[in-house]
Amino acid sequence: TPLVLLIIIGAYLLGSVSSAVLISRLCRLPDPRESGSGNPGATNVLRLGGRGAAAAVLVCDILKGMIPVWISYFLGINPFLLGFIGIAACLGHIYPIFFHFRGGKGVATALGALAPIGWDLSGLLIGTWLLTVLVTGYSSLGSMVTALAAPLFTWWVKPEYTLPVAMLSCLIVFRHHDNLRRLLEGSESKIWTKFSRTK
Ligand code: G3P
Repeated sequence: TPLVLLIIIGAYLLGSVSSAVLISRLCRLPDPRESGSGNPGATNVLRLGGRGAAAAVLVCDILKGMIPVWISYFLGINPFLLGFIGIAACLGHIYPIFFHFRGGKGVATALGALAPIGWDLSGLLIGTWLLTVLVTGYSSLGSMVTALAAPLFTWWVKPEYTLPVAMLSCLIVFRHHDNLRRLLEGSESKIWTKFSRTK
């Protein structure tokens, strides 16, 4: 229906607003696309010096996924289409129309998009991420492990959402191929590694 199409486009456009770039600019931190890992996301903003800024990026990126899916959920849009709306938000974050299609990895936005499925799923995902990161120190590894576990958790909690969640997981793991290479080489930086602000 035209309404769903409109929401999908809206979700993509909202996802395209890179909070990491905008908040870093606002806080006079280095451009996260040019420093650290080069990724415009909360992890890299944390590396580049701002704990507060990183938290703000995390919240905004989560909201970019959460808002369109929640609105659609309350409009009574069916699970299959809700999945597409969440994917559209993540595609906006990863390939932002306003930032030359050079975006982030979609982890926080996907978490936000999945929140309306239920707090049980969100809790499992956040727990998996935190556990992996606390044990290994690698944010990217936490994201990949969580992305791989997400379809299984979803199948267990709300099976009707397994397919769209699996699609999101593929997208997220694919976006981490550079991290995967660095992890295998042993050159990936830990989440608490600080970079100089002038780098
Ligand atoms: O969410 C992004 C995270 O998984 C990796 O970020 O900056 O280490 O590439 P980064």
